[in-house]
Amino acid sequence: MVIVMAPDATQRDLDEVVGLVTTAGGEAFVSRGVNRTIVGLVGDLDQFEALNLRGMAGVLDVVRISVPYKLVSRENHPARSTVRVGGVPIGPDSVTLIAGPCAVETPEQTLAAAQMAKAAGATLLRGGAYKPRTSPYAFQGLGEAGLRILADVRAETGLPIVTEVVDAHDVELVASYADMLQVGTRNMQNFALLQAVGAAGRPVMLKRGMTATIEEWLMAAEYVAQRGNLDIVLCERGIRTFEKATRNTLDVSAVPVAQRLSHLPVIIDPSHSGGRRDLVLPLTRAAIAVGADGVIIDVHPQPEKALCDGPQALVDGDLTELARVMRTFPEAMGRALT
Ligand code: E4P
Ligand code: PEP
Repeated sequence: MVIVMAPDATQRDLDEVVGLVTTAGGEAFVSRGVNRTIVGLVGDLDQFEALNLRGMAGVLDVVRISVPYKLVSRENHPARSTVRVGGVPIGPDSVTLIAGPCAVETPEQTLAAAQMAKAAGATLLRGGAYKPRTSPYAFQGLGEAGLRILADVRAETGLPIVTEVVDAHDVELVASYADMLQVGTRNMQNFALLQAVGAAGRPVMLKRGMTATIEEWLMAAEYVAQRGNLDIVLCERGIRTFEKATRNTLDVSAVPVAQRLSHLPVIIDPSHSGGRRDLVLPLTRAAIAVGADGVIIDVHPQPEKALCDGPQALVDGDLTELARVMRTFPEAMGRALT
């Protein structure tokens, strides 16, 4: 909120405004321009509204600078949130590694990928049973059979499951197996799906639409929150640009920007961003350095046989370095691996 003082406002008018705001527990920052003095207020906006600042001597205008999303904004919720997925925290105090196969293909492949993920330090298992594919001829996922495999692998490894839901009609079914529901880049503005996952009683990972602005992404999160679910994790997964060397362009600035605008945790998907195995570790290091609250990474025991996104999956040989990065980089940032 900003108070614009009238050109003829006196020092006493200004002192009274600042005094009232600070007595109410807020902070007032005075900026003197050539023609005008403005006072920036930080604190509880509703409480400031109740002070009737507009009626005070010397006040020309009071401007409420508000973002269009409310529930997910930091303006209304200054402290950063931690979301718990099957007991695993994702939030500002730690860096969470989520890893697993892009798609659930067989019980053996999923278990092997989960064991690779766990060995690298992952505490959550990713894996798609419903795959959003560009081509209708491409592998679309195993559906409920894939969810059953994920549940078996969870029982075997103890890793809670993050899995995508692509259709509002499947939300109840997917939520009956999943610990966290993923909404992918292609569905970020599928408003019926967002509302359905908001009502499903499970934490939600909301990937950024590949052509979405950060504000559109946060408005999408607001749809979920509006249904009473604030357990939302934002995932930056690369955006479409003119650059062809990578599958998508990882927008690292989205992490601090979204964290400043929203209290929700923000993670990065280095696999779908770069789309290339050799870029996953460098982008993981970048993710942690920029302050991401976690990373979600594809791993596969035999990526040359993968039914989806093999070229970006880490293999056994990459895991020692992934585990090292996950041990040392969060610590260097004053955070712990969860
Ligand atoms: C994977 O997780 C997605 O389903 C995949 O990246 C879709 O891409 P494609 O269908 O264009 O291969
Ligand atoms: C995925 O993580 O399986 C996926 C489909 O990713 P995205 O929505 O980012 O393409």
